[in-house]
Amino acid sequence: MKRGERNIYITIAVLVVVMVVYRGYQEIENPDPGIPFYTTASQELQQKADKIYKANKCSDCHTLWMVRNMMASVPAPALDGIGAIRNEEWFYNYLSAENPQDILPTRLSNTYKMPSYAHLPEDDRRTLAAYLASLKVEDWYLEETKKAEYEKLTGKKYQQ
Ligand code: HEC
Repeated sequence: MKRGERNIYITIAVLVVVMVVYRGYQEIENPDPGIPFYTTASQELQQKADKIYKANKCSDCHTLWMVRNMMASVPAPALDGIGAIRNEEWFYNYLSAENPQDILPTRLSNTYKMPSYAHLPEDDRRTLAAYLASLKVEDWYLEETKKAEYEKLTGKKYQQ
């Protein structure tokens, strides 16, 4: 190996080490907060609910765990973290309603609005309700959302 070549390799090796150390340092300084959504459901409940959710094509309209059917573009609310604002009983009543729009009015046409799931077996509705109630969101995310919304609407810097 020529001397010039060796120096180039050494320089590259040093740069790589510096970059790796710097990245590691940055991660300690600013840890990735990660996905703010989580569930308190048992694995058994999750699996049971997931089957019902898929069988009824909820993901044609809703996002959950950042996943939805890209072919359907319905402006339905995302279900991530929804259990932070409503409880199991509310979900059960909503899914059991012959006309869910009596509970939650809609601005959408019949094709897009929330369909009634009153025809599902009671056990399925209970499972879905329990699962939806288990979908939570970390406090820091709510705080971030509030802050972003405040700054967007007022154009002012948010202070606590
Ligand atoms: C055809 C589209 C569509 C399908 C399929 C659908 N939804 Fe909805 N859903 C909506 C829309 C739109 C809303 C908002 C209310 C409205 O416009 O009727 C909604 C509202 C909801 C809400 C209330 C959200 C809130 O803000 O409180 C829940 C919970 C929900 N859906 C769960 C489900 C579940 C679980 C399934 C599957 C069993 C499902 N949805 C299937 C369109 C749909």
